Amino acid sequence: MLKINEHYLKLQASYLFSDIAKRVNAFQEANPDKDIIRLGIGDVTHGLPMACIEAFHSAVDEMAEDSSFRGYGPEQGYAFLREAIAKNDFQARGADISPDEIFVSDGAKCDTGNIQELFSIDAKIALPDPVYPVYLDTNVMAGRTGTYSDGRYQGIVYLDSTKENNYVPDLPSEPVDLIYLCFPNNPTGSTATREELKQWVDYAKENKALILFDAAYEAFIRDASLPRSIFEIEGAKEVAIEFRSFSKNAGFTGTRCAYTVVPKECMAFDSTGNKQAVHTLWNRRHCTKFNGVSYPVQRAAEAVYSEAGQAQINTLVNSYLENADLIAKAIGELGFDYAGAANSPYVWIRGDRDSMDFFDMLLNKAGVVCTPGQGFGKCGQGYIRLSAFNSRENVITAMERIQQALS
Ligand code: MLT
Repeated sequence: MLKINEHYLKLQASYLFSDIAKRVNAFQEANPDKDIIRLGIGDVTHGLPMACIEAFHSAVDEMAEDSSFRGYGPEQGYAFLREAIAKNDFQARGADISPDEIFVSDGAKCDTGNIQELFSIDAKIALPDPVYPVYLDTNVMAGRTGTYSDGRYQGIVYLDSTKENNYVPDLPSEPVDLIYLCFPNNPTGSTATREELKQWVDYAKENKALILFDAAYEAFIRDASLPRSIFEIEGAKEVAIEFRSFSKNAGFTGTRCAYTVVPKECMAFDSTGNKQAVHTLWNRRHCTKFNGVSYPVQRAAEAVYSEAGQAQINTLVNSYLENADLIAKAIGELGFDYAGAANSPYVWIRGDRDSMDFFDMLLNKAGVVCTPGQGFGKCGQGYIRLSAFNSRENVITAMERIQQALS
């Protein structure tokens, strides 16, 4: 008799964004004439930058000829892309990252979900609350938690991110091994200063811990004093891994391309206390389980770093930031407290009511989809998240409808 991995039974019924999509689809079926504006999942709506499209087309043409055709590529990504990433995203900002520390992949979601399998089952996990649900769910699947009760899994160290700490969690009061951090944060939109990140790096060093830093939203940082990468912090290369994505800056949510930086200095320990390079382990996993991102997609991603590509992604990101600003203004006028919007595509709104009720009310009365805060953790109860990923026109209409529904 085949038995299942019973840790899956501890999970909540379905993944947050699939659950929301089901509810919205059911609503649309019941109300076929209702125009729904989606400010729920952080999925981009504008077309790919023209520089990426041109590179994409020309790489597809190369695939048509025997002389330029490419079969299996390097699992870690083509050198042209890894070199462009190292130079532009890190070295240009004073972070000493080399191309062979970069692993190109098909998504930060997959990488942040898969990375935990390198570490022991009894690794103590610390997670911000609220946070992107993938970090938690994948650790539940792996068996690193007890059961779920009262909105939390036993065995996890939750790092409360609340208005009181400006949505930047305090250091844990007990030793932990693996720390997930996400800045600009999903869902709160909060950012961390250099000093705040330095505290985490120092903590990780002292505790022989590792930081898993999700920087998928770094392109939205406009405040020049804020770090875009944890590797801008001294000493981080020994204790941190960083996840990046082309999804939110360049619109690759459907095209799929991301990367993970695993510095060679980054160590974890075997059961006898000997250092083991995380880079070697991740490389082994990547080569075994992944055959690389397609050549045309990597060429399209490389074009993000061309002069035209940089100008085009800047325009895209600015348009979403302007939307975030419109959302924040309208929400502020309604008298709600909120976080995010500056340096982030998300607005985190304190609704002072059950977040699922708030979700239902906005859908029914305004035809606007948000994400209920409780889906991101217990501290998200009472909040909703609005995403700025839509057209300006839709955002303006959505906010007018929300203002009408609430007044
Ligand atoms: C979100 O809405 O939180 C994100 O779009 C989900 C994701 O990037 O997978």
